[in-house]
This record gives sequence, C-alpha cells and structure tokens, in this order.
Amino acid sequence: MTDPLTRWRELAGAAVLLDGFHALKHALRFGAEVPVAVTTDRRAALALAEELAGDVRDALDALLTEVPGAVYASLVPRPHPTGVAALAVRPSREANLRALGGTPRTAPVVVLDNPRNLGNAGAVIRLAAGFGAAGVVTTGTLDPWHPTVVRGGAGLHFATAVERLGVDELPAGPLFALDPEGEDIRGTKLPDDAVLAFGSERTGLSAGLRARADHLLALPMRPQVSSYNLATSVAMTLYHWSAGQAAPPAR
Ligand SMILES: C[S@@+](CC[C@H](N)C(=O)[O-])C[C@H]1O[C@@H](n2cnc3c(N)ncnc32)[C@H](O)[C@@H]1O
Repeated sequence: MTDPLTRWRELAGAAVLLDGFHALKHALRFGAEVPVAVTTDRRAALALAEELAGDVRDALDALLTEVPGAVYASLVPRPHPTGVAALAVRPSREANLRALGGTPRTAPVVVLDNPRNLGNAGAVIRLAAGFGAAGVVTTGTLDPWHPTVVRGGAGLHFATAVERLGVDELPAGPLFALDPEGEDIRGTKLPDDAVLAFGSERTGLSAGLRARADHLLALPMRPQVSSYNLATSVAMTLYHWSAGQAAPPAR
C-alpha cells in the first residue's frame, strides 16, 4: 500500500485541499471521495469528532494518519488550528452539469456573474449548501474551486454543485437578476427552479446577464445606501426563497 505522504504528493496537484477538521467533516458528510487525510494529533481529532461529528467519527478513524507538525506544515499553505488536512477528489464537470441541469429542479441555482472576491464566493457556497440550493455557478475568470474559495466554503462545495459556466450556458429556469434598480423582491414569490443571478462586487451585473434576465429584483434598502455586499445579498435572496416554502411541522 502507498504510504499517505507519497499518496498526498501524487494527488496534491489535481485534488481539492480540505483545510481543517470542519472542512473534512463536511466533505465526508456530503459524500466526497477523500483518499488521504493527515493530522498532527489523531487523539485530539477523534475527540473532536466524538464531540461534534459522531456521524463521521469512524470514517475519520479509518482515514487519519498522524504526521509530525513539520510534515503537516509542509503540506498546507498555512497551518489550521485543528491541525487536520485532507485531499478530496474534485467532482467532474459532467457530474456538476448533470446536477445543475436535472429537471424538475426543486431548489434554485445561484449565479455569481464575474465575482472578484474569493472569500465572497466561499461564503456564497456555504449559504447555498445551507439552504439546499441546487448549485452555484460562476461566470468569468474566478475559479470557484480555488483553495481560498474552498477554505471559505468550509468543505461545503461537496454539498451542492459548483461549476464555472458562460452566461450562454446557464441552467434552464426563470432568470431573476438581483439589482438595486429592480422591483422590490417582497412582491415576488421565487419559484423552486429559479436561477438567481448576482453581479460582480465592482461593476454589478454584466450587460450579457442583464439582457438574459426575465426579472430584475431589488432587496429593500434605504435611499443613499448604494448596495449590499454580494454574499449578504445572496443570503437575503435565498432566505426570501425559503420563506416562500411550506414551513416544516413544529417539533
Ligand atoms: C456589491 S454589489 C455591486 C455593486 C456595484 N458597484 C454596482 O454597480 O452594482 C454586488 C451585487 O449584489 C447584489 N446587490 C447588492 N445590493 C442589492 C440590492 N439592494 N438589491 C438587489 N441586489 C443587490 C447585486 O446583484 C449586485 O450586483
């Protein structure tokens, strides 16, 4: 059997770095293929699993190899407080396109039109995972699987479909573009197959996306405030979609 460090070095170029215990926990929970995982302290990592993630404790026990701190530090760009790191197989574009294109769709797809900030993209993927959105699509040059985006997404890229596409390749469904100049979102019920598009932090929605939009919607905002942050705009819009759903029975 190949030793974990050799395996790490073989895979590191193409695989997704899961940085820290929580990213690894989420990735395992949502079915990621994780060929190798290391920790500076197996006992501490398994104790954390027992406390916070009993569902993946056995998987972690089978996966985690303890390595010296210096070896761990050589594998990651900056050490994580939990001293845990792993590599996961990136889902294929075909698998993501299948998930995004599946019909009937029961939850919206979020589109970030040429986002610039890696942290915002990660926060949006975490939101999409939390709300059970069908996926997050980015247009433009930012790689939504960039290590900084994966770090911001806390391993939740594996809980939704994340892919970069052209504006002319967006999944089917009514396209609602969010813009402060649009109609008040409170007058609209967002359908489950909605495609929800948000503009770039710098320049807002591109002309191409605007031209394709079926509806332009605004989030309530006091006059003289120019705009909200991109990720908070996605949060409010996904919440608005979810608030239009039937509430689960009271516990
Ligand atoms: C930081 S804003 C972009 C600001 C940019 N300077 C502009 O010219 O639009 C990023 C994105 O968040 C969404 N957004 C922000 N505030 C919004 C609001 N009040 N209503 C609807 N969408 C909003 C829009 O999709 C916007 O393109």
